[in-house]
Amino acid sequence: MVSSPKVIPTMKFFADTAELDDIRDLAATGLLDGVTTNPSLIAKSGRDFMEVTREICAIVDGPVSAEVVALDHATMMKEAEVLRRIADNVCIKVPLTVDGLKTCKALTDDGTMVNVTLCFSANQALLAAKAGATFVSPFVGRHDDNGMDGMDLIRDIRLIYDNYAFETEILVASVRHVVHVLESARIGADVMTAPPKVIHALFNHVLTDKGIDGFLKDWASTGQSIL
Ligand code: G3P
Repeated sequence: MVSSPKVIPTMKFFADTAELDDIRDLAATGLLDGVTTNPSLIAKSGRDFMEVTREICAIVDGPVSAEVVALDHATMMKEAEVLRRIADNVCIKVPLTVDGLKTCKALTDDGTMVNVTLCFSANQALLAAKAGATFVSPFVGRHDDNGMDGMDLIRDIRLIYDNYAFETEILVASVRHVVHVLESARIGADVMTAPPKVIHALFNHVLTDKGIDGFLKDWASTGQSIL
């Protein structure tokens, strides 16, 4: 009997920003799998929501989260209808509320990607998975701010999702520093979304810089050139 090859999932990197220059810059590395925005990031960009979302969707092929602002299910559905017409890769972001999860269920049943945001407990993440969420966004930084360990929340959600083979992807959000990224990878989170400065910090190591300096000094002493 031929066994099928084991599918090894990758950890996806999303940029948590609505700044186009940063998104283009990160997309050029080939390491960017998607983008998340929220009303605060849109306000910070100073751009028109629809226009900037359309431009982001044209830069990245992966999911681009655009958040509804209504609080009731009926209006959330109307907003989602407008947002999902922007591009095929728009992922509708809804808050983790009763109405948000009703909207999540209706949209995912219809084949639309949904990111359930503002998740602060493993029980909430369980509800999001049962509502068919494509992604659930636990906010680790804000959890830390409130004296809790944000990464413990990710561990709990990973355990619960694996217990029941939920397909909802754990999208670690409110990432503030590189250790959040490291811990997310150790735990096996599916996605992490971080501000561009945190993603850039992942590349850095003082010994890499020091090593390059040393190699370049020694290379210069040879008087050679490759080109
Ligand atoms: O991904 C959610 C994020 O935008 C919130 O981050 O740093 O405001 O808690 P922060």
